[in-house]
Amino acid sequence: MKQSSKADDVYATPRHVAIIMDGNGRWAQRRMLPRSHGHKAGVDALKKTVRAAREFGIEYLTLFSFSSENWSRPEGEINELFALLRLFIRRDLAELHNNNVCVRIIGSREGLPSDVLNLLVEAEILTQNNNAQTLVIAFNYGARDEIARTVKLIASKVVNDEITLDEIDPQIISDHMDTHDIPDPDMIIRTSGEKRLSNFLMWQAAYSELVFVDCLWPEFGKTDLSDCLVEYRNRSRTFGGLVKDTAS
Ligand code: IPE
Ligand code: IPE
Ligand code: MG
Repeated sequence: MKQSSKADDVYATPRHVAIIMDGNGRWAQRRMLPRSHGHKAGVDALKKTVRAAREFGIEYLTLFSFSSENWSRPEGEINELFALLRLFIRRDLAELHNNNVCVRIIGSREGLPSDVLNLLVEAEILTQNNNAQTLVIAFNYGARDEIARTVKLIASKVVNDEITLDEIDPQIISDHMDTHDIPDPDMIIRTSGEKRLSNFLMWQAAYSELVFVDCLWPEFGKTDLSDCLVEYRNRSRTFGGLVKDTAS
């Protein structure tokens, strides 16, 4: 069994958990229901998970809700996903705010319907001073898009003499990503049995523990999150170094 202590905090509760919430469509199809029912059930799982993460003391929870590649889905499905986001913010923002949750949105703000953009901004502004937990919603998010936007931003600062070429290093890049004020995820969970990142947090995932679970997202709940935390504690995080006991 792995020895851990309070000081050994890489084995404690992860500070930041990110989730690729996958399998809504298959959940519905298995029940002979339209995919939209799967997305609705997915929102219920999302709410349960936000609550459970708070109870487990997870400081940052990032949820992959809509990828920059999800635009390739049928228009009707995209409209349903946007409608669910609108409903979630309208109905649940007050509860999140009352629970002292800070909402942050990552992803491109280009191409979003203006009312959705306004709701996202409203959620960020209302909750910006909350500090019990940060809920990061990755919406219209793709890691390659984020990296491209970051490169553009840094290049424009070089052109304007705000940064020199020599100053560009991994820290400067991190400081210009959408996640500049959010620690890297300690653990990334993906449901539905798929084992890939699908363009999620590729820069930030350098040393994240990847946990793949077979259940479909609408089935995911507190017990599954708890199992993932156990799995995380059984991992050995060395960040390129050596396991403590073997270093001499
Ligand atoms: C995840 O479930 C939700 C989004 C990508 C928005 P899917 O819709 O990808 O469900 P499957 O993978 O088709 O089952
Ligand atoms: C990843 O799931 C995106 C979200 C969960 C929002 P997808 O279902 O879109 O990913 P692929 O197509 O299986 O890689
Ligand atoms: Mg999927």
